[in-house]
Amino acid sequence: MRSGSLLLALTVTLAAACGEEPDYFTTEELRDPENCMDCHPQHYREWSGSMHAYAGDDPVFLAMNRLGQEATGGALGDFCVSCHAPVAVRLGMTTDGLNLPELPQWSKGVTCYFCHSVDSVGELHNTGLVLADDGVLRGGLSDPVPSPKHRSAYSPLHDGESQQSSAMCGSCHDVITPAGVHIEKTFAEWSETIFAHTDPQRHLSCSGCHMKSRTDVAAEVDGLDVPLRNYGVHAHTFAGIDTALTPWPEMDAQREAIAEILDPSLLSRLCVVPLDGGRIDYRLDNVNSGHMWPSGAAHDRRAWAEVVAYDAAGDVLFSSGVVPAGEDPDPVADPSLWEMRELVYDDAGEEVLYFWEVRDYDRSLLLPPAVTVDPSDPRFDHSVTRSWSAAGFFQDIARVTATVYIRALPFAVIDDLADRGLLDPAVRDELPTLNLAGATQEWTPAAADLGGCVQ
Ligand code: HEC
Ligand code: HEC
Ligand code: HEC
Ligand code: HEC
Ligand code: HEC
Repeated sequence: MRSGSLLLALTVTLAAACGEEPDYFTTEELRDPENCMDCHPQHYREWSGSMHAYAGDDPVFLAMNRLGQEATGGALGDFCVSCHAPVAVRLGMTTDGLNLPELPQWSKGVTCYFCHSVDSVGELHNTGLVLADDGVLRGGLSDPVPSPKHRSAYSPLHDGESQQSSAMCGSCHDVITPAGVHIEKTFAEWSETIFAHTDPQRHLSCSGCHMKSRTDVAAEVDGLDVPLRNYGVHAHTFAGIDTALTPWPEMDAQREAIAEILDPSLLSRLCVVPLDGGRIDYRLDNVNSGHMWPSGAAHDRRAWAEVVAYDAAGDVLFSSGVVPAGEDPDPVADPSLWEMRELVYDDAGEEVLYFWEVRDYDRSLLLPPAVTVDPSDPRFDHSVTRSWSAAGFFQDIARVTATVYIRALPFAVIDDLADRGLLDPAVRDELPTLNLAGATQEWTPAAADLGGCVQ
């Protein structure tokens, strides 16, 4: 026994003296986010509730991919799943995503290993990311403390301060369909904004807005001296608009993170003016979004303004965009409706629900982002104002309310997938309709300024 432990001690000492490797994770172990939880509990917890973790389990994704495969006779191949479960595709575990429910959890979604192994960006769309697969986890820390379980390296692709970092996100957040239609363009949109500026003072990357920094330790390891990093640790909630529709970790935290980024994204102004016999003007300004509002899957979003004018007795004089609960906004039933979304069409010019059917689009309803800081540039004021006539009831207006709602998906899509037996209809009740605080205004004569506006 004695000589055994002596031998062991000797081996350890010798190993240390010769600089032999610590007990690093194997590549298989590195791929499993569960193995990161002990030392990076906060990163793990936030990520586990994100749409990145959900991407391969999202029931709408699974149903839509299945329908897409049926509709194209399998020609869709790994197009969808290469973004939603990139590890599984690259390891040859799936070719069409139809077997995702049977695959182990570590292979699905956009995982720690996938992002932190990216070594270079090939194509700027359709997940054109090259993984190093060399056992080194890349991140934005230039001086990482040696980790007992993995090698670390600094990479400008992962450093939110770096000009290059948005391309890492952008390669997936930019979709060109098999028919060649550039349907989701978040990265391309961002590239045209003031945030893509080369001046570091102005530059704001995807992670600059979507991965808020805090002062914290980047890892918690017993017996290891890990420094407190001044605004050097980044949130991994990746909040936007979409939420899990089935039981999933961290749902409340996700909703809070979504409200935090979404609420201030638009600024608004509501005016009641005597022009043209009386008019209600509602202005929305996409000030805090680094791309169109909405962006990405903007063809799936349903976003609209609700404006209601009341008389002194509280009776409704006028309304636009009052959408009954459980229904999609309908521009046919409500011709005065102000919608913000991408309209998508097939060859015949008919609106379609699914993006493999899309051949043409109209993006004119999206709220544009800031593209110049030069006040003399006509694009400087990029706000959008809609006006509704108040002729005939202008004198009676006592109060006007205005707000904006957004929903990640249309009920039409949920219902169509459910009718085809591909989706549990109960998902319908879980789809939230979000309301934006920054866009919410209440006008009364007393609250209005000299121009007749509240803002
Ligand atoms: C035994 C503890 C431990 C485990 C397990 C662990 N890490 Fe780490 N990791 C660390 C330490 C320590 C650091 C350095 C922190 C610092 O310097 O502030 C680190 C740093 C990192 C960095 C930053 C590298 C850089 O240079 O920016 C990334 C990314 C990372 N880890 C990802 C992971 C992932 C993914 C997993 C799961 C496969 C994982 N870690 C598992 C301890 C661990
Ligand atoms: C969508 C890509 C993506 C995924 C998925 C992801 N990360 Fe990160 N992670 C990043 C980026 C980008 C940064 C650097 C952000 C910056 O510097 O602005 C980062 C930073 C880190 C750091 C360095 C400290 C910090 O907060 O900056 C650690 C540690 C880390 N991630 C661990 C993890 C772990 C563990 C997981 C999975 C549970 C994970 N990451 C999932 C993109 C990702
Ligand atoms: C491997 C491809 C991939 C990479 C790399 C990637 N994403 Fe994503 N991202 C996705 C997918 C897929 C989803 C949607 C999952 C779902 O809803 O089913 C998503 C969702 C999101 C959302 C939520 C969108 C919503 O609808 O609410 C945000 C925000 C986001 N990503 C930001 C980022 C940022 C920031 C980075 C870079 C640090 C990044 N992503 C890198 C694929 C990727
Ligand atoms: C200046 C801050 C800012 C920057 C920079 C930024 N975003 Fe966003 N992003 C937002 C806000 C605010 C929202 C929520 C409002 C909206 O949908 O635009 C959002 C929403 C999203 C969504 C949900 C899409 C939607 O509108 O439904 C995705 C996906 C996303 N961002 C990805 C990215 C990626 C990828 C980049 C970099 C190429 C990026 N963002 C850069 C602020 C930013
Ligand atoms: C190049 C990467 C990529 C490809 C390919 C891709 N997606 Fe996505 N998908 C995303 C990203 C990024 C999001 C996050 C949406 C956003 O907010 O912009 C997303 C979100 C979704 C969502 C969540 C709901 C929503 O609209 O936000 C569904 C469902 C979905 N995708 C289905 C599909 C299907 C079905 C296919 C194939 C026909 C597909 N995706 C192909 C990247 C991709």
